[in-house]
This record gives sequence, C-alpha cells and structure tokens, in this order.
Amino acid sequence: MGNDNNKIKSKDVFEINKRWKMFRDHQLGRGAFGEVYKGQDNKSGEIVAVKRMWIDPNLAIISPGLAEMFNQDRITKEVQLMLNMKGFEHDNIVKFYDFVFQKPTVYLILELCDEDLKKYIAKKGGRLSESDALHIGRQIVEGLRALHTMGISHRDLKFDNILIKNGVCKISDLGMGIDKEKHRSTVGAVFLRPPEAIKK
Ligand SMILES: Nc1ncnc2c1ncn2[C@@H]1O[C@H](COP(=O)(O)OP(=O)(O)O)[C@@H](O)[C@H]1O
Ligand SMILES: [Mg+2]
Repeated sequence: MGNDNNKIKSKDVFEINKRWKMFRDHQLGRGAFGEVYKGQDNKSGEIVAVKRMWIDPNLAIISPGLAEMFNQDRITKEVQLMLNMKGFEHDNIVKFYDFVFQKPTVYLILELCDEDLKKYIAKKGGRLSESDALHIGRQIVEGLRALHTMGISHRDLKFDNILIKNGVCKISDLGMGIDKEKHRSTVGAVFLRPPEAIKK
C-alpha cells in the first residue's frame, strides 16, 4: 500500500507493539466496553480500527472485584470468538486481524469502517428509503447467516454494532456473542430483542 490515504496526522501516537500503533487523537467511537480509535499496521501501512477494552468504571464503583470478573469474562469471550473466526472472511462481517494483550488492557485490531448504521440513519434524517432499508437488511441477514454457520449467536445486533464501509454493511462487536449451543440466557438491548426472546 503506502499511498496518501495511509497518512494520519496525529499528535498522540501510541505504539501498541512492534506491529500496531494507535492514534489516540482519532477516536472512532465508544460503547459500554470499548473505545475505538484509528490505528495503523506498521508492516503494510494499512489504516485499521483498534478497539481498546478496559474495566467498566461504572461496575468498578459497585464492586471492583465484580467488575474485573465480569469484564474479563466478557473480554475473553469476545477475543475467543474473534480468534475462532480468524481466517474466515465474509463481506458482511468486520474482519478481525489480531489482538494484543497488555495486562490489564486488550487491543483488538479490526478492519476500519466509515461509520456505524446509527450515524448513517441519523444523517438521513432518521428514515431510510424502502430500497436502502431492503439493501441494508439483506446484507445484515447475509452476515448473520455466516455467523450462524460458524456456530455463533451474536445476541446484540443493533444499529451501533453494524458498520458501513464503502456502502457495504458489516456486523461487528461480538462482545455478547456466544457459541450457539451454549445459548441459554437472554441479553442485549431490550427494545431490539427478537420477539421470541421477549416472550420467554
Ligand atoms: N472497525 C470499526 N471501524 C469504524 N468504527 C468502529 C469500528 N468498530 C467500532 N467502531 C465504532 O465504535 C463504536 C463502539 O464499538 P463496539 O465494538 O460496538 O464497542 P462496545 O463493545 O463497547 O459496544 C461502534 O458503535 C462504532 O461507532
Ligand atoms: Mg457495541
């Protein structure tokens, strides 16, 4: 690679290890469990996304021990699922490149996308055209089908966990994901649960 798109102006470069760096002044987003920044592959020059996960401060207020247990368990699961998926590529699933563990922080290195579906819909004034909705819906179903083929239930499919890159939808954030066979409990955003999960 090495073209102009690979140059990032940053005053706060954090070298994660020899291979990956993270630009702490280029935040892409944040959720309950992670902060996501732009980063770069020192080898190829490719710009990537780096998800940095940490102990949830809100849980830590309740109980530092509980926070650590709960979060570590969740982070381990997310990393494990990503590792299971390594080498598997699907257009409608965000690619996972690597993970780096530097106690107590975990860095997931992911394919960089342009934005999430929540921002995309907001930009369109909160409504999608019928054809846009169909196009997006189809891609999400394709991504889900691929995850299910790999034996993974996502369990937290919502607008901010679906990313868009060059007009292509990609399912992301396997933090709530689980081996389909072990799927027992119901988790995830209440208003976005499938009806059969609410009825239970
Ligand atoms: N690969 C990516 N490319 C671009 N933006 C991303 C990427 N991954 C995450 N983001 C942004 O960061 C937000 C939080 O990431 P997410 O993985 O959902 O974290 P959490 O597990 O905390 O919910 C997403 O909603 C999205 O806006
Ligand atoms: Mg998320």
